[in-house]
Amino acid sequence: MNPWDFDFIAGLLKQKSGLIVSKDKVYLLESRLVPVARKHGHGTLEALIGKLRTGGDDKLLREVVEAMTTNESFFFRDNKPFEVLQKETLPFLLQSRAARKQIRIWCAACSTGQEPYSIAMILKDEAAKLAGWKIEIVGTDLSTDVLDRARNGLYSQFEVQRGLPIQLLLKNFAQKNEMWQINADLRSMVQYRQINLLDDLGSLGQFDVVFCRNVLIYFDQQTKTQVLDKISRQMPQDGVLFLGGAETVLGISERFKPMPGQRGVYAMAA
Ligand SMILES: C[S@@+](CC[C@H](N)C(=O)[O-])C[C@H]1O[C@@H](n2cnc3c(N)ncnc32)[C@H](O)[C@@H]1O
Repeated sequence: MNPWDFDFIAGLLKQKSGLIVSKDKVYLLESRLVPVARKHGHGTLEALIGKLRTGGDDKLLREVVEAMTTNESFFFRDNKPFEVLQKETLPFLLQSRAARKQIRIWCAACSTGQEPYSIAMILKDEAAKLAGWKIEIVGTDLSTDVLDRARNGLYSQFEVQRGLPIQLLLKNFAQKNEMWQINADLRSMVQYRQINLLDDLGSLGQFDVVFCRNVLIYFDQQTKTQVLDKISRQMPQDGVLFLGGAETVLGISERFKPMPGQRGVYAMAA
């Protein structure tokens, strides 16, 4: 790929989704975008980039941006955050929100739904303590494709074998041909919305808990700072933020501080 084409497509992806593509990742552009090029009758990546340069095709642009997202996810990913949510955060919220009886949880890059459904399974487990409470779980993602998959809640054998204890599979999923579908009661606990973290997040309202896991890793430092600052505006002073195992706020955002002894869990800074 010539350097002008590379600079154009890398710049476009950064502008539209925050994704940073380095020069050693040209193979990723090829493997993910050539199928999009062919689907739209452009044949080669160069021809697709030529079409994108002329502008005006928002659908094509959206498909290109979505094709470049990495959507890997699995149930109870890394375990620990979900343990902290159940054993520390939830008891804290049950006390601190006792008057209002309302908890709002946001999965800010929820991909195909494993993360919000893991949270929903935990809350279902705690249903007795939450009787009479209004609980909202909102899953958002840039990609409409993954959100459609999340809404359907259909997972392959491989996907349900990753991180999901067998008892939870049998209790909360029904087999549908080769696939497993998460039960309707859990599906109805999560609302999905298409949201780009680079856009204004104000319409989402305030969240007591935010999971923003394994998405900041794709952004540069400045974008990470901007996104974390925006997320902090959607949280009350005692809100709790969960990041992925390879992510941190240290040196990136002054709005959050690590919770002592709890890796990947952050409180708002004073
Ligand atoms: C690797 S998945 C993480 C899924 C889940 N949070 C987890 O940790 O298992 C990253 C997700 O971030 C989404 N994403 C990438 N850029 C985004 C942006 N600018 N705004 C919102 N979502 C974005 C992708 O579409 C993808 O589904």
